[in-house]
Amino acid sequence: RWPKKIFSGIQPTGSMHIGNYLGAVRKWVDLQEAGEDVTYCIVDMHSITLPQDPRILRLNILKMTATLLACGIDPVKSTLYVQSSVKQHTELGWILSCLTTMPRLSHLPQYKEKTKKLKDIPLGLFVYPVLQAADIMVHKATHVPVGEDQIQHIQLAQHLAKIFNYKFGTTFPQCHGMISDSCDARIKSLRNPSKKMSKSDEDQKSAIYLTDEPDQILEKIKKAVTDFTSAVTFEPETRQGVSNLIMIDSLMSGDTIEEICEDAALIDTGKYKLRVAETVIDHLNPIRSKIEEYMNNPEYLVHVLEEGRNKAAEVAERTMLEVKERVGL
Ligand code: ADP
Ligand code: NA
Repeated sequence: RWPKKIFSGIQPTGSMHIGNYLGAVRKWVDLQEAGEDVTYCIVDMHSITLPQDPRILRLNILKMTATLLACGIDPVKSTLYVQSSVKQHTELGWILSCLTTMPRLSHLPQYKEKTKKLKDIPLGLFVYPVLQAADIMVHKATHVPVGEDQIQHIQLAQHLAKIFNYKFGTTFPQCHGMISDSCDARIKSLRNPSKKMSKSDEDQKSAIYLTDEPDQILEKIKKAVTDFTSAVTFEPETRQGVSNLIMIDSLMSGDTIEEICEDAALIDTGKYKLRVAETVIDHLNPIRSKIEEYMNNPEYLVHVLEEGRNKAAEVAERTMLEVKERVGL
C-alpha cells in the first residue's frame, strides 16, 4: 500500500572515495536510470558529529554535489539536496529519539568503532543513527540502498517505524535495505585491509578519492598492503589485501573475479597492482574531469541544491504535519 520510494544519503566529510562510489553511488545512478522515485541527500548534519572545520565543510558540500553530478546523478530525475536545508529532518529526529533507548543505541557497531579512540563522546555521535532513521522516514522511503556497513542502522529505522506506528497509528512504511548483491561489496582500506575504506580515515593513503590524480592513484595502489604470497588469488577471508584489489578491479572493469585471476595467473601481486591502477585510472579519468567542470560553476551547483531542497521540503513538510498531529504536538 506504500508507493515504492528510494532514499539514500552520503556525508560531505572529505571527498567521495571508491568505496562510496562502488558500494553506493553507482547503484544510486542505476536506480535513477531505471525510472525509480529516488531522493539523494548530502547529510551534512551527520558530518558535524565529529570535530570539523566550517570552511572545509562548506567547500566539501559543493564538492560532493559536483561529484554526485559527475557520477551521473541527474537533478531532474533525482531529488538531490542538502540535509540541513530541510529542517524537518532534525524535527523528526527529536521525536524518534524519544521512542528508543540508550542501550539500544549503544549496541550499534559503528558507534563502538567510531568512539574507540575518543575520550569524550559527543551526544550527537551517539544519537546520529536516530537522525539517520529520520532522514529515511521523513520521506516515507520504502527502500534504502546502502553498503553492508549500514545494516544495523536500517534495522533501527525499521524498529522506530514499528514503535511509532504502534503508539500513534500507522504513519510510516517499513523500509528495506538494498544491500549490494556481490558477496562482499565492502571496499577495504588499502593500508589496513581488515577495515573498510572510509572518509573518516585519518590516513589519506588508505582511500582512493574520485578526485585523485593518476599518479596519486598509482602510488596508493603500489603501496597497498598485500601479504607474503605473490600469487593473485581471491581469498577474501585469508588474503584481504589482494582480494580487495581484485574486487575493485572487477567492479571497475566489469570482468569477473575468475577472469581476472586467470589473466593474472602468470604475474605476481606487484605487477598485478600496476594493472589495477590502470583500470582505476581509466575508470576515474572522465569522472574527475567532470567534477572539475562542475566545481568551476558553483552558481549552478547552488541552483541544483535549491531546486532539490524545494522538492524535498514539500514531502518532509507533509510528513511532519501528520506526525505532529498524531503525537499531539
Ligand atoms: P563513510 O563511511 O566513508 O564516511 P558514508 O557514511 O557517507 O561514508 O556512506 C555513504 C555510503 O557509502 C553508504 O551507503 C555506505 O554504506 C557506503 N560505504 C561507505 N564506505 C564504504 C566501503 N568501504 N565500501 C562500500 N560501501 C561503502
Ligand atoms: Na559511514
